Amino acid sequence: MFGIEILGMGSYTPSICVTNEDMAKVVETNDEWITTRTGIKSRNFTDGEPTWKMGVEAAKKAIEAAGISPEEIGLIIDATITGDFATPSMACVIQGKIGAVNAAAFDLSAACSGFVYSVDVAKRFLQTDDNLKYVLVVANENLSRIIDFSDRSSCILFGDGAAAAVIGKSDKLYSSHLGADGTGAHFLYAKHADVKHPFRTKPSELTEGEFGSPVDLLAQDGKEVYKFATKALPLAASKAVEKAGIDISTIDWFVPHQANIRIIETAAKNLGVSMDKFIVNISTHGNTSGVSIPLALTEAIENGTIKKGDRICLVGFGAGLTLGAIVMDY
Ligand code: UT7
Repeated sequence: MFGIEILGMGSYTPSICVTNEDMAKVVETNDEWITTRTGIKSRNFTDGEPTWKMGVEAAKKAIEAAGISPEEIGLIIDATITGDFATPSMACVIQGKIGAVNAAAFDLSAACSGFVYSVDVAKRFLQTDDNLKYVLVVANENLSRIIDFSDRSSCILFGDGAAAAVIGKSDKLYSSHLGADGTGAHFLYAKHADVKHPFRTKPSELTEGEFGSPVDLLAQDGKEVYKFATKALPLAASKAVEKAGIDISTIDWFVPHQANIRIIETAAKNLGVSMDKFIVNISTHGNTSGVSIPLALTEAIENGTIKKGDRICLVGFGAGLTLGAIVMDY
């Protein structure tokens, strides 16, 4: 079987740690509500550092952990929805900063499923290009730049950070399932600022209808996303397991997107899997979108929970709406 191997990982957590008590100074909320409804106790925000910089920090650590040199990387995929520029891509900026002179580079937009989507794309590149040795997948989010800090139901959820993985070829087990439901696009979105050109005669249609949020910040229908998430997570995981032709009981660790502890618990129940097999770090990071899965994975590898040879299932869902899962042997 053509598979891939995670050769090294790294992460970056920005310096400002904001507790639930700190959030209660900004919106009408309290630690008890946030803890019981989400499982989050604190999150970290950037202090002005750009998205690309966090990606560079995580990438350098992943490359060091993999024991390769940046010149050996043939492709960089950056999963982000909060890139610093419309262009160039975050992947290109990172390519230049780390000296990955032989790498092609592009960004991939799949929100909280971004890392899973990117690893799957990386696998397909590796499978079809004999000359490609290593792919660097980076996830980096500056969600604090798009959070609506006047909306207590969403601003308490999110955090910033970055994580990265160096991926190479192997003959280990691998399967994936990617999906989307664009009919739910308006349940979670953030528009670009509407800059009027000198020839325009009409107001933007983006201020009307389903994407009509009056501000250019993250707008969320939490209940709808919750409903989608509790179905999407078990669906994506079970489809990837089915495609792998394995029994779900052979999976040692599930690394789910960290959006809400209640979503993870419901998904575990629906899959018939013990919560003991789920890697959870939501209490200290909140929801970092596409970063959450590789961040949880990096921490679990670094603290010795996930070991070489363990069978893992990475499973995400999020804006788009998107969903995705990967089953692989670490
Ligand atoms: O990566 C994917 C991104 N998003 C998600 O995964 C979000 C999925 N959704 C959720 O996690 C949950 O829907 C939320 C955490 C966003 C909300 O939890 P909920 O249990 O669905 O709460 P709710 O919206 O039903 O609100 C219950 C009550 C409301 O008050 P009333 O109307 O019952 O008086 C809210 O106004 O809780 C109130 N509330 C709060 N109270 C204190 C909402 N947010 C807060 C808050 N602090 N931060």
